[in-house]
Amino acid sequence: MKITSFDEYQKAYKRSVDSPEEFWADIAGNFQWRKPWIKTLEWNFTEPNVKWFIGGKLNITENCLDRHLDKLGDKPAIIWEPNDPSEDHRILTYKQLHEKVCQFANVLKNNGAKKGDRICIYMPMVPELAIAVLACARIGAVHSVVFGGFSAQSIADRIQDAQCNIVITADGGFRGTKEIPLKNVIDDALVQCPSVKKVIVLTRSRTPISMLKGRDLWWEDEIKKVETQGNTTCPAEEMDAEDMLFILYTSGSTGKPKGVVHTCGGYMVYAGYTFANVFQYNPGEVYFCTADIGWITGHSYIVYGPLSQGATTFMFEGIPTWPNPGRFWEIVEEYKVNILYTAPTAIRSLMSFGTDVLKDKDLSSLKKLGSVGEPINEEAWHWFDENVGHKNCPIVDTWWQTETGGIMISPIAGVTKTKPTFATLPLPGVQPVLVDEHGNEVEGNGVSGFLCIKFPWPGMLRTTYGDHERCRQTYFSAYKGKYFTGDGCLRDEDGYYRITGRVDDVLNVSGHRIGTAEVENAINMHASVVESAVVGYPHDIKGQGVYAFVVSPNKHGDEDLTRKDILVTVTRIIGAIAKPDKIQFVSGLPKTRSGKIMRRILRKIAEGDTSNLGDTSTLLDPAIVEEIKAGAL
Ligand code: PRX
Repeated sequence: MKITSFDEYQKAYKRSVDSPEEFWADIAGNFQWRKPWIKTLEWNFTEPNVKWFIGGKLNITENCLDRHLDKLGDKPAIIWEPNDPSEDHRILTYKQLHEKVCQFANVLKNNGAKKGDRICIYMPMVPELAIAVLACARIGAVHSVVFGGFSAQSIADRIQDAQCNIVITADGGFRGTKEIPLKNVIDDALVQCPSVKKVIVLTRSRTPISMLKGRDLWWEDEIKKVETQGNTTCPAEEMDAEDMLFILYTSGSTGKPKGVVHTCGGYMVYAGYTFANVFQYNPGEVYFCTADIGWITGHSYIVYGPLSQGATTFMFEGIPTWPNPGRFWEIVEEYKVNILYTAPTAIRSLMSFGTDVLKDKDLSSLKKLGSVGEPINEEAWHWFDENVGHKNCPIVDTWWQTETGGIMISPIAGVTKTKPTFATLPLPGVQPVLVDEHGNEVEGNGVSGFLCIKFPWPGMLRTTYGDHERCRQTYFSAYKGKYFTGDGCLRDEDGYYRITGRVDDVLNVSGHRIGTAEVENAINMHASVVESAVVGYPHDIKGQGVYAFVVSPNKHGDEDLTRKDILVTVTRIIGAIAKPDKIQFVSGLPKTRSGKIMRRILRKIAEGDTSNLGDTSTLLDPAIVEEIKAGAL
């Protein structure tokens, strides 16, 4: 399955285009199936309808755990570093992880969970989060992990959309100096969620919480029950390749976040294949992905990808800058991390502390570096290369999305020649195309366009939960017969791809995906707001910042307080990650005569580029532009 030279890459790529089914059947043959598939692929991008490994039966946890027990049973599967460095770290071997997953799977069963049920997970970055995810997969329940930074309202929306019957959470979690009151947030969410019958609560922060009789249960007590029952093994549920594995909510340009659906067989094959290849993982290496399991990067490259390959995956509960900005480097030194996969925003934030914190750290264990989540700027790329990799580690700039399930365009470490800021070449099995605004394919090199994918890959989303039409509309209607990514892209003279950023109304703030419409809806819920428009602007550390233009005639004369009120409102409706960085009060928004907000103009103003705002003559009230320009922050 592993490509180890550029020549092999080229051959594999060609084969993947000429005979995709044979190519993928061979890759899938590296996994453990209960029953082989009958047909490799069936697809059309019109409905869309995509099925991989039809008739194949498997359980992803057998691939991530059971099949490694003989050879790797005593090797570390998860190494966990707590937020507070004075607390003990934990190591779970494959045997121990297997046992814990089985136990917790039995806890879920004891509480009525069955195959196909949706289970919401809202937990801190502790090993039990990975255990909860795998336990769901073990029994065929569909997990919907919600990142610990989302608000009660966001959780309620997600729970209602998927009609979850169980929630798995913790009393609280730690991130830097902050204590996150997870259970309290869940309690607020559940006021609106009658579908939830049981809440299983892990002890982590010992924050006082309310535990409702009949609904709320302690994780530890439930495990004890299973132990007394002697229920420490749990046979894995046999899943169809196309059965749902998980739902993960993500933001788009309109409406509420949608539940991206991934299925068991294709996702497993894709996560494992891309992990093994992109990072060129070798047995015994310690691999550290700094993401949170609440995002797709954590699903595919902390849990499923690495574990399916028998890797040692490192989990970190805290943040890169606490208790000091050398925390990542201390971790790398202490645990002899070989592969470090992080985000440009983290790199930029660490850059701002200078190189002193790095000077006395031994980073010689590092062999490969990775970047994900947003375009990496040239300065950050070089800083990472020079100060972390000591010009000795290939950097894989991996482009992909929640919807793609795994890495799509990326160097293969040590195999593909890298180029700063370029995700370089598609992995074998991925067929990207650039299209112009008329939907015509832009061929040749030295061109740019909208990035689409014209052939299915096993890890792609199958639908958006409960609303297939939305899936069709969002991804398959803009360009006939193609999956549209929402990203702009250029292909240089060497055929290398560089992702230039979203071309829709989706922002990428510190690598977090946020829809402008969602933020506007949240702002508009504030009592003194009439309407608002949200755009992104370049931000030194976050990549993009959130700039809100707000019409609020009723400010009671205290703009600053209203501004703070709006921030509190957004935090309550979505979560702190969506808080605007700038709020400019305006008396109106630039609109066309048909009432459409001209975001192009607002974007320019937010970027501080007001020299050429283009044609403003079609505006209902051109004078408003002058007012907004004059008041720009
Ligand atoms: O705009 C692209 C950007 O992140 C978007 C996907 O966000 P999400 O679904 O949250 O997944 C993030 C982690 C895979 C993409 O549409 N993006 C992701 N990786 C890169 C990137 N932009 C440029 N370069 C990347 N390497």
